[in-house]
This record gives sequence, structure tokens and C-alpha cells, in this order.
Amino acid sequence: MPMVKSVLKFAHHLLEESVELGDLVIDATCGNGHDSLFLSDLVGENGRVLSFDIQEQAIQTTKQKLIQDERTNVTLIHDSHENLNEYLSIQKNVEVGGAIFNLGYLPRSDKKVITKGDSTLKAIQILLKYLRKDRLIVLVVYHGHEGGKEEKEMLLKYLLELDQKKYNVLRYGFINQKNNPPFILAIQKKQD
Ligand SMILES: C[S@@+](CC[C@H](N)C(=O)[O-])C[C@H]1O[C@@H](n2cnc3c(N)ncnc32)[C@H](O)[C@@H]1O
Repeated sequence: MPMVKSVLKFAHHLLEESVELGDLVIDATCGNGHDSLFLSDLVGENGRVLSFDIQEQAIQTTKQKLIQDERTNVTLIHDSHENLNEYLSIQKNVEVGGAIFNLGYLPRSDKKVITKGDSTLKAIQILLKYLRKDRLIVLVVYHGHEGGKEEKEMLLKYLLELDQKKYNVLRYGFINQKNNPPFILAIQKKQD
């Protein structure tokens, strides 16, 4: 067993640390559904995963996986994560146990449909309001594609200024890898 986890393995490790059975959690970029399935296991049958994507293709691919696996605890939402408030505010006393964003474009799909700094930041700000104390928002930051650098810089600027009394912000990545390797940013809420 290697001592150092890959970026994707570490993202899942952080989610395992954050999420508990019965939680409501968010997959902000469902894509091919890998993270949604992972979260579905973590929250169990009494929990719920809300999975967002702006691409019909992503929603359909994930839907097929959920049917095959007989999962009933994932709700697919064909909408931008920047509209998260519409889906969270309709529930009473809602709290979020954890969230993941896999930024960039959907592999083997249109490379022009990418996550963007403005909407990603808006979604993070909404989630920070609903996030339970001690829990995490995990971002896997892919930034080698066109438009990726702008999103990365917007995120870093915002997160570097988050009040350390209220949040821990972590960065994890491999600094000797070539070609703009992805890295993780994770925000832990310290206070209610
Ligand atoms: C890197 S992929 C996600 C991979 C996914 N987590 C998986 O397990 O396969 C990024 C996804 O974000 C989606 N996306 C882009 N902008 C979005 C937005 N504003 N709201 C929700 N999804 C968005 C894209 O359509 C794409 O499917």
C-alpha cells in the first residue's frame, strides 16, 4: 500500500472523513457518476445525494449507473450548481454533510463545456452556509485546459482570504508532476 494517495484517492478519503450515514451531501459536478456512487455508499439508504450537472449526457450516463446498481438515494438535477440554493432552501433545517466538485470538462466529451470560476464560487458560497460544522467541501482542480487557469486563480484568491477562525483550507497535490497536474482544495467549516 503506497503511503501517498493519488489526488482522486485523497479526495475520496476526505469525503470518507466528512460524510456520515444518513447525511445529505452534494456532488456538484456529477459527470460520469463516479463520485455520486461513492457518496451514495457513504450516506447509506437513509441519506441522500443531490447530484448536479449542466449536461444531459452526464445526467443520462449517471442515471444508467444508478439503475444498474439499484440506487435509490441519489437525486439527479439537470441544472447548474450555482442554483443550489433553490434546491436546499425548500427543505426545512437542511444541513449538508459534505460536497465534492470535480472541475474542468467531462472526459471524452465536449471540452468547451467546463466549470467556470463565477458559478463554482457562487456554489461554494451557498454550500458554506449549509455545511455542518467540521465537514468538508472538496474540490478537485483540473486546470490544464483552456479556461482552467482563470477558474483556478479565482478559487485560490477567494480561498486564501477565507477567515482562518471560521475555516481550514487545505491544498494537496504533487508539485513535481508536469503538464498542470490536478490538485485538491478542501474547506472545513470550523464554526456553526
Ligand atoms: C470533470 S467532470 C466531472 C467528473 C465526475 N465527477 C465523474 O465522476 O465522472 C466536470 C463536469 O462538470 C459539469 N459542469 C460544468 N459546469 C457545471 C455547472 N455550472 N454546474 C454543474 N455541473 C457543471 C460538466 O458538464 C462535467 O460533466
